[in-house]
Amino acid sequence: MASTGVMLVLTAALAVLVVADPEPVQDFCVAVHPAGDAAAYPGFPCKPASAVVSDDFFFAGLAVAGDTSNRFGFNVTQGNVEAFPGVNTLGLSINRGDFAPGGVNPPHSHPRATELVHVIAGRVLVGFVSTAGRLYSKVLREGESFVFPRGMIHFQYNVGEASAARVITVFNSQLPGVVGAGPALFGADPEIPDVVLAKSFQVDAKIIKLLKSMFKN
Ligand SMILES: *[C@@H]1O[C@H](CO)[C@@H](O)[C@H](O)[C@H]1NC(C)=O
Repeated sequence: MASTGVMLVLTAALAVLVVADPEPVQDFCVAVHPAGDAAAYPGFPCKPASAVVSDDFFFAGLAVAGDTSNRFGFNVTQGNVEAFPGVNTLGLSINRGDFAPGGVNPPHSHPRATELVHVIAGRVLVGFVSTAGRLYSKVLREGESFVFPRGMIHFQYNVGEASAARVITVFNSQLPGVVGAGPALFGADPEIPDVVLAKSFQVDAKIIKLLKSMFKN
């Protein structure tokens, strides 16, 4: 009996350890963005509480559609701590995704967050691949949601042939980070050597060069 109690306490302690961002130790910590890229643990430095105003907890960035007239037919507007200082240390953030007909948010992963995608308009095919190599996928309609567990490669694709689509995504991190599969492999700076990628994908180096040409910055 006692050991069951100990196990429950240990399990609860472990559950606390796996939350995405540290628990806040104060009501809030509106981010002050230092010059350069020095994001400090556990987040950015706090604005003095006496200087905090209502607008520090307000973000209108997602009210405007992103421009989808690019080769992917997709645009993401980010509401992470860099754009929305009020979420600093709170362990969450929000993005907006806009899709032209046939637009795709290409395969990518977020190293620091689980993501929930919620469709506001349109029909969107979503999916992620588990560590066992299994694809979990679904076509979402307006008002429907799906989750991508932390770190899993996932994508979103507008299957509406003539209509735009719009999603809201939320993350259990103030700064989820993103690793694009294509950009990481074929657009890295400096480049991953052609010979490494050709051997890894079992294709000719010509194909690797072609793929690299698509991800040149
Ligand atoms: C996304 O939309 C914004 C706002 O219209 C625009 O400034 C930006 O260039 C777009 N990004 C891409 C990749 O098209």
